[in-house]
Amino acid sequence: MPSLKTRVAIVGAGPAGLLLGWALGASGIDSVIVERRPVDYILARVRAGVLEQGSVETLTELGLGGRLAAEGLVHRGIYLQFAGERHHVDFADLVGRTVTVYGQQAVVRDLITAHEGAGSRIFYSADDVAVHDIATTPRVSFTHDGQPHEIEADFIVGADGFHGVCRPAIPADALTAYERGYPYAWLGILADVAPSTDELIYCLHEDGFAMHSMRSPTVSRLYLQVNPDEKIEDWSDERIWDALHARLGIDGWRLNEGPVTEKSITPMRSFVVSSMNHGRLFLAGDAGHIVPPTGAKGLNSAIADVTLLADAFARYYAGDEAPLAGYSDAVLSRQWRIQQFSQWMTRMLHRHPGDAGEHRFDYFSQLGELDYTTGSVHAMRSLAEQYTGLPLSRHSLSRQEHAA
Ligand code: FAD
Ligand code: DHB
Repeated sequence: MPSLKTRVAIVGAGPAGLLLGWALGASGIDSVIVERRPVDYILARVRAGVLEQGSVETLTELGLGGRLAAEGLVHRGIYLQFAGERHHVDFADLVGRTVTVYGQQAVVRDLITAHEGAGSRIFYSADDVAVHDIATTPRVSFTHDGQPHEIEADFIVGADGFHGVCRPAIPADALTAYERGYPYAWLGILADVAPSTDELIYCLHEDGFAMHSMRSPTVSRLYLQVNPDEKIEDWSDERIWDALHARLGIDGWRLNEGPVTEKSITPMRSFVVSSMNHGRLFLAGDAGHIVPPTGAKGLNSAIADVTLLADAFARYYAGDEAPLAGYSDAVLSRQWRIQQFSQWMTRMLHRHPGDAGEHRFDYFSQLGELDYTTGSVHAMRSLAEQYTGLPLSRHSLSRQEHAA
């Protein structure tokens, strides 16, 4: 059986795995990536769309900022819409930071192009991926082109998303999972039409949440709150546009329609695993934590994990083991803040099933919260600080607070 040796074996070629492999390469640390899907499938996957300023800086520092700088849309804030009115929250004015709209699909394309140029070792379409001896002498086995393979590594990184094989390889008594479900899902579409807004609109409407995002000056990305058991086949393009018009419409503004090129329904969950490390296995990104998408934190959290982990490996191979030993604690202290922010945004902006009729309590309480969030400079600054991105450690958060 062909056997490879490397320092870090990475399972999963989503944004976390691809970025980690690239960042390790930049520090001269050898890695091999194993991915169960074909490369075309990965390139076609449509997901998140908003990069925090820190994520943009990370990608740029790693030499991945060329197309991002040319095509990314820098937004100085977002709109919050409720009770038929749209309010702008100006992050640039409030905290001096911006976000960049640049799809996860584009981030992944840039990473794959960079890896191809560098001749990185990536096995796509790998079957039967399994990890072994994670506490002692870690190995990854898989089948590729019908041939069994094995990788011997110093470490394994599980960047294989929520449904991967790495997290389940940690013994149950060494792992605690914290989870919340939500009684709603997002129906998302991509449409070939110029965005009808200059910045993202997050909207609470009596019929449910709606959002207007974008991918480029000619492509719009839109979302609708739907029931988690809805079937995408029951949502014709006409029904989707009707619901978007009803929820997003306000006086004096029109939503442009165009051909729908992609549509899907995504369930929501909050999930955190403790610890993000067992023996010589480390988890990064969705393998270790999931947020509901309302705060735009999934992709950004994956990038933040990788930033910490790549730095920890570089320091480990330079003789300092402490950052790697502290990786899980560093991720989790930041991640719980992100969990709370994402849950807060989600609950504030979605209709809660059962909260109906003239005595609906949650809806009016949410309107009160949105009124405060768009009316108080303190509340807006808190939203701006969290939406544009928290620093990587609590230590630097307190420094930022003192500096403000
Ligand atoms: P992933 O992107 O899930 O990548 C994991 C990779 O591992 C995949 O390529 C997978 O094929 C591979 N893999 C899985 N199992 C194995 C195995 N056994 N062996 C080898 N490889 C394996 N976030 C937002 O902020 N906004 C959004 O609108 C949004 N939409 C989303 C829609 C969907 C359908 C999903 C699933 C997530 C969405 N997210 C969104 C979350 C965001 O996309 C994720 O947080 C982000 O993709 C995390 O990156 P990752 O690399 O950790 O995981
Ligand atoms: C997008 C997705 C999000 O989850 C979000 O909060 C904002 C934008 C997007 O896909 O564009």
